[in-house]
Amino acid sequence: MRRRVILVTGGAGYIGSHAAKAVHQAGYEPHVCDNFLSGHRWAVRYGPLTRLDLLDQKKLTSLLQRLKPFAVMHFAASAEVEDSMRNPEKYFRNNMVATLNLLTAMAAAKCNRLIFSSSAAVYGTPVRRLARETDTLRPVNPYGESKWMCERLIAWSARSRPLKFVSFRYFNAAGADPDGELGELHRPEKHLIPSILRVAAGMDRTLRIYGTKYPTRDGTCVRDYCHVTDLARAHLQAVDYLADGGKNSAFNLGTNKGLTVREVIETAARVTGRPLRPKLSPPRPGDPPVLVADASAARAALGFRPRHSDIGTIVETAWRWIRRYEL
Ligand code: UFG
Repeated sequence: MRRRVILVTGGAGYIGSHAAKAVHQAGYEPHVCDNFLSGHRWAVRYGPLTRLDLLDQKKLTSLLQRLKPFAVMHFAASAEVEDSMRNPEKYFRNNMVATLNLLTAMAAAKCNRLIFSSSAAVYGTPVRRLARETDTLRPVNPYGESKWMCERLIAWSARSRPLKFVSFRYFNAAGADPDGELGELHRPEKHLIPSILRVAAGMDRTLRIYGTKYPTRDGTCVRDYCHVTDLARAHLQAVDYLADGGKNSAFNLGTNKGLTVREVIETAARVTGRPLRPKLSPPRPGDPPVLVADASAARAALGFRPRHSDIGTIVETAWRWIRRYEL
């Protein structure tokens, strides 16, 4: 029997490629579409690929009509907070307009299950210690705003037709595939863990801590780091949830636990055995001091339980990935 197809937009990117692997392992066929603006050809390994920009409505609609996917996982997006402050229109076009096109194509193809990649950036600066889905959303950058707009577009579509959806608000995706097949690679690299490990590996010279006077236990920002393989698995749990008649929802994906930048650097020094001497730098514009998930709703509704998200495992898997050519 032919396997059911799941369309994975942005499946050549960091979280999308790990999800495509999980889709494949669950017995579906992951069909990746990607425009390769930030994705990588080597990351597409588990199913067919269509090179496509979601802004091309005609091609997108004919792809959906041809594939008739069981569900769509929509990862494709521009996702750099700082860049979004400089180029807001890019974020509304690549995130909001692209999602609008996808919804249009899904309606034409009568495809009615969508798992959407949203972000903790929709919260802005959270009002409580652990951000909850029911909190007021006040994004503080165009990236977060565009993701919030997408969530609303999807919710309105679902009110007018039989669309079923889950929107996932990722906290800090981190780590690499435990089998060593996939990992994180951004150009330029701005994220904390790969930035630390590049310095540890001698690929970059300077490690910076952005801001040391935040109102946190050691003055540096607190984030909720969640392993990318745990995030990927949640997408399969969402497919089952929707197929079983689960309610349209937005869920946080995180660990309910925050770590400071210094704590992450200490773990990396221990795992790599390399001394790390960070340079204390001014805060990065737009960084909230603390961003930690209350992920209890995803746990209750989907059975989401992170298995690889302790910081030691996150750093070890990312370290193995960064050093793959040396080992
Ligand atoms: N940081 C450093 N030095 C670095 C890189 C980062 O000190 O070289 C700090 C940042 O200031 C921040 C923390 O490490 O306090 C984490 O930074 P990342 O860039 O790894 O991640 P962010 O929390 O800024 O961004 C993440 C996601 C975004 C999402 C955002 C929500 O990557 O997609 O959370 O605010 F929008």
